[in-house]
Amino acid sequence: MTTHFNTIGVIGAGAMGRGIAQIAAQAGSQVMLFDKDHAASSRAISDIATQWDKLVAKGRVDAALAEAYKARLSVPKALSDLSPCELVIEAIVERLDIKQALFAELESIVSPQSLLATNTSSLSVTAIAAGLKHPERMAGYHFFNPVPLMKVVEVISGLKTSAATCTALTTYAKQMGHTPVQAQDTPGFIVNHAGRGYGTEALRIVGENIADFATIDRILKDQAGFKLGPFELMDLTALDVSHPVMESIYNQYYQEPRYRPSVITAQRLAGGLLGKKTGEGFYKYANGVAEWPAEAPTPVVEEMPPVWVSPRASRRAELLSLLKTLGATIETGASPSMNALTLVAPLGFDITTVAVVERLDPARTVGIDMLLDDAHTKRRVLATNPATRADMRDAAHALFARDGKAVSVIRDSGGFVTQRVIAHIVNIASDMCQQGVCSPQDLETAVTLGLGYPQGPLALGNLCGPTNILEVLFNMQTVYGDTRYRPSPWLRRRGAIGLSLLQEES
Ligand code: NAI
Repeated sequence: MTTHFNTIGVIGAGAMGRGIAQIAAQAGSQVMLFDKDHAASSRAISDIATQWDKLVAKGRVDAALAEAYKARLSVPKALSDLSPCELVIEAIVERLDIKQALFAELESIVSPQSLLATNTSSLSVTAIAAGLKHPERMAGYHFFNPVPLMKVVEVISGLKTSAATCTALTTYAKQMGHTPVQAQDTPGFIVNHAGRGYGTEALRIVGENIADFATIDRILKDQAGFKLGPFELMDLTALDVSHPVMESIYNQYYQEPRYRPSVITAQRLAGGLLGKKTGEGFYKYANGVAEWPAEAPTPVVEEMPPVWVSPRASRRAELLSLLKTLGATIETGASPSMNALTLVAPLGFDITTVAVVERLDPARTVGIDMLLDDAHTKRRVLATNPATRADMRDAAHALFARDGKAVSVIRDSGGFVTQRVIAHIVNIASDMCQQGVCSPQDLETAVTLGLGYPQGPLALGNLCGPTNILEVLFNMQTVYGDTRYRPSPWLRRRGAIGLSLLQEES
């Protein structure tokens, strides 16, 4: 089978089709860009040429090479003109019936050896290929927008797709300068499936009134290193795109609780607060720039109480050394004195439960999130319980801000913001490995390149410690009684035997 395609067809000259046509021409293929709207194809070709001219002007592409690229693009008059194509990539409207009809027609045009690929993001590749005479030559080829910049492509194997078809598409992806990852035909494939962890759990935290949008965005960027907070990200993608994706994956998995969408985005979508493109989403935008609400100032505390740290605190030694650096008076007794600020650092449990179980005075008890190494984060997160006294809350806030690090104080919840979101991301990724959606390595690659996470979900799980992630999930399941937080067996097995999440089973 050919691995380099001399002549290819791209159908649909919208945002995706034109990007695919561009990188295919750059890889050396003759590209016929067909659209049912002939003018759209011509427009796309002139827009792609403009892109190349810009690259020439910036000195990134040689002028003669750009002319060679341009000569490789053409607009066929009719679909039947695609007969010489060795590969046809479809990027038309996201409708199963229309895609099926197109591929049925294409089979009567191209040779039986030609490969067919769909850029669908949410439909089943198997379903699109179902009516074909040769479904083995058809696969999913899922690119991301904008195609030339998003350097990852999912090669999706439908139930009848041959291994040779996937191999050829994988090789061609590399020739186009992209990183291919291999996925089974499952809802959301890799990137859109793995991406369920971030926004949905953040929405649930807002839904519980634990913290507001901006606080959650700040925490996840400063503590966990995400480039964009979940609400900034949803504003950028726009809710008319992201809410239907949440609903689609949830329903395709027959209401699996891990993917449950939120009433918050449903309502905002109905109200037209779509995001940046409409000028208002979770944030308001003035000239395209988000207006961030100011952070609560650090309280001024005249007299700092002594501090007592629960013996069951996570990363206790690290917390004690941090307190020493911050100049706190640390109590060493078996229980806190009458005046002491009482610190707990649970994983997955809420501060209220910890105060009750450890028989601490809830009025003086404040929690701190110690899931991640404090030295590697730019923000500390504290949580109060309903009985925490304002002076104790303020003392903790002022104490942990002494070295200038940002501090957020949130309401009590099972698991802090970062614990909840990271545990959810790691759990969903683990369950994808359990299902065999893709290899752990491809999962990491796809998520890092496709979602721009600081690292892959499994590496993030390793950083926190698989047993800590399990502890967060087990305890959250207890607090919420929600099967959404049940750990994937894949994660449980690795946690139980102390295995790295990136280690493959023999
Ligand atoms: P778009 O709306 O920008 O462009 C679609 C183009 O297809 C239009 O020019 C339309 O005239 C043409 N078209 C529609 N029906 C046709 C037919 N029967 N025959 C020939 N041309 C036809 O759409 P976009 O965003 O480029 O998406 C295309 C496909 O790629 C969809 O399946 C979408 O789900 C998928 N996708 C989109 C991504 C995105 O971020 N926009 C990301 C990944 C996949």
